Amino acid sequence: MNKLLRVALFAVVFIVVTPIFANAKSLLPGKPVSSDTIRPGEIWPDTDGNHIQAHGGGIIKIKNTYFWYGEQREQGLDTTYRYVSCYSSKDLTHWKFRGNVLKMLPPDTLKSNWILERPKVYYNAKTKKYVMYFHVDDSKYRIAQVGIAVCDKPDGDFTYVKRFRPLGHESRDIGQFIDDDGTAYLVFEDRKFGFRIARLSDDYMDVEKEMTLVKEHMEGGAIVHYDGLYYAIGSALTGWKANPNKYATAPTLEGPWTEFQDIAPVETNTYGSQSTMLIKVVGSKNTVVIFMGDKWNPKNQWNSRYFWMPLEIGDGKLWLPKPQPWKLTIKTGKTSVSSK
Ligand code: DGJ
Repeated sequence: MNKLLRVALFAVVFIVVTPIFANAKSLLPGKPVSSDTIRPGEIWPDTDGNHIQAHGGGIIKIKNTYFWYGEQREQGLDTTYRYVSCYSSKDLTHWKFRGNVLKMLPPDTLKSNWILERPKVYYNAKTKKYVMYFHVDDSKYRIAQVGIAVCDKPDGDFTYVKRFRPLGHESRDIGQFIDDDGTAYLVFEDRKFGFRIARLSDDYMDVEKEMTLVKEHMEGGAIVHYDGLYYAIGSALTGWKANPNKYATAPTLEGPWTEFQDIAPVETNTYGSQSTMLIKVVGSKNTVVIFMGDKWNPKNQWNSRYFWMPLEIGDGKLWLPKPQPWKLTIKTGKTSVSSK
């Protein structure tokens, strides 16, 4: 074989074989694969075939890409740190792991058993920064603060900036809400009083103005603006155990909020899940609101699952249908039951 032929052959082998090895993780026999079907409560493989680790999470859309941030709780992590993971997707169904975008030691005076939960990331178009909020606490949940970390890119690495009580109030579970006009809000649970909805400052580095205090003791707070009405959902305070989640509506974020009502048959305890976010997808044919919940597994947190279902919503009513495998067509906003 002459030299030129050998070089050409080597190049062909290199081009064909390298991507196969790079993807070896997903090619291992027995590894689940990312599928077109969303299966509430089941293992949800990312595009490498690994169960998605983005618990208590939140999702933002940047151009045509969704970014899902959450608690990284995979087995075998170095427990000296707390981690926030990031996944990206064009269709809310197939998720690519983009890395652990925050890896953090206990900030200042906190002890090694500190807690980082429910991270949410906002993109600030003015400063061009990605601003992450998360719940910071000690192991007994007595600190009740939010932490902030920032980054120039969606996929890290984020740098920790500070921690504080928003507007001086206790803050445990946090939720994220971005209104149709782009205004960013933080939802936070203030144990003695209820949950608060507050607007972020211009640069998102602070919590600036309280819109409302909903005098209902709820966590896992999430909000959606649908057809001219605000819908707020949340769960009762039962630790990692599921309970009947409830919703209320209001014409403006300031209220007045209606009485809270069940979102699912009480005896199902929200089908074993807890709310974390409501995602609105405005398609060419339909607007769908997806209930995004966690099915916690406190003894094996890495094996906690996700519970996503399209909601029945409209005219002040909201209902979480019985879970079943389903598909979403992101372009049209249409959903369908999946037989597979
Ligand atoms: C319920 C909250 O929603 C979770 O984020 C977590 O803080 C657990 N409580 C801890 O018990």
